Amino acid sequence: MSSLLITNADLVNEGRRFEADVLIENGRIAAIGSDLQGRAATRVIDAAGRLLIPGMIDDQVHFREPGLTHKADIASESRAAVAGGITSFMEMPNTLPPTLDLERLETKHARAAQVARANYSFYLGASNDNIAAIRAVKSGQCCGVKVFMGASTGNMLVDDEATLEAIFRDSPLLIATHCEHTPTILANEAAWRARYGEDVPIAAHPLIRSAEACLQSSSLAVELARRHDARLHVLHLTTAAELDLFTPGPVTSKRISAEACVHHLYFDDRDYEEKGTLIKCNPAIKTAADRAALLAAVTTDRIDVIATDHAPHLLAEKDAGYFQAPAGLPLVQHALPSLFEHVLNGDLSLTQLVTKTSHAVADCFGISERGYLREGYWADLVMIELGEPRPVERREILAKCGWSPFEGRTLRARVVTSIVNGQVAYERGQVNDHVRGQRLEFATA
Ligand code: DOR
Repeated sequence: MSSLLITNADLVNEGRRFEADVLIENGRIAAIGSDLQGRAATRVIDAAGRLLIPGMIDDQVHFREPGLTHKADIASESRAAVAGGITSFMEMPNTLPPTLDLERLETKHARAAQVARANYSFYLGASNDNIAAIRAVKSGQCCGVKVFMGASTGNMLVDDEATLEAIFRDSPLLIATHCEHTPTILANEAAWRARYGEDVPIAAHPLIRSAEACLQSSSLAVELARRHDARLHVLHLTTAAELDLFTPGPVTSKRISAEACVHHLYFDDRDYEEKGTLIKCNPAIKTAADRAALLAAVTTDRIDVIATDHAPHLLAEKDAGYFQAPAGLPLVQHALPSLFEHVLNGDLSLTQLVTKTSHAVADCFGISERGYLREGYWADLVMIELGEPRPVERREILAKCGWSPFEGRTLRARVVTSIVNGQVAYERGQVNDHVRGQRLEFATA
């Protein structure tokens, strides 16, 4: 029986912060208490007062396998994820081929079982003609159905009205949507092209992929969900205008929930000047006022979860004009540290951070036995050290694309250790390549 005892931790869990020891046996939390120091264990880690929190469960990543593995793959990006304190991930279907049927879904799960360093699930993708596959998926078989209600990387736009109706009426799984109204975006693009030709400045991105485009599409998603009583999760909100579509309150009480992403909470449109196409993503990073409103909505529980939308592209691909540069940022390795900046700035409490990155994600998707530090649950934990500002440096980056939008910035929180199913998956700069995650399981109603 393998066991691990973590002593002297500053635990943040279920709305409380307290000193504790944690005993882990056979991958699960055996005990949490103040008096476990004498307990026998194969290994003891002295947390020496550092923070210990449940591992982040990231409900939106693009790991690019199969088909786009020159950018990233499940092994490389899950290594970066555990280095960033992400112990479970849910991966998106815009791979090559896209994940549009149950066979491809199971192929991805099988691949992850071989190589993923963190726990995993995969979305089934929607298209204008795969409603049969969506109807056939079993409740609990994976995390959800992803619907691109706006076109983005990969060709997965679902814009057929009858198909959207059918998905919202019949999906046995949570429906996760990318909401941007493509006709509005195309009209905006045409207007900017008429003025600038191919040399449209990157600062136009949030005006082309505009707040109106977001609001129009997310309004439609919410309207469809209400009409069909569907379980809707709107991904990566970026605007203040959309927030009124969502209600404050615990995610367990909601049929319609919302996500914000770390980059939309960290960057705003003033950063295009320095970062250029490196921070081009869909939906676009918008104004400082939008950013502040998103952060406030996280604290009032109008936004339920925080994710990364980790979307790696090569620097060589990013080094292009506005229209050619692909949208998306590699984020998993610095997501939690960047969120701690909001805590240290006083904009988010520690317990809120833990709720939005772990507890509420588990609740939102009905993930079994994870997302909380509870006796009997799987031991997915992260130890964090707060200290002096440290620059994010290229040499430490583990994502295959080898760059980060946080380079040139300093962060004060550092992931010291990540534990996945009771095994040390990452410790002081080293990924343990022997560790494999498990398939996430979902409680079915
Ligand atoms: O910026 C983005 N990148 N947004 C998406 O919706 C897709 C993603 C990607 O896969 O590159």
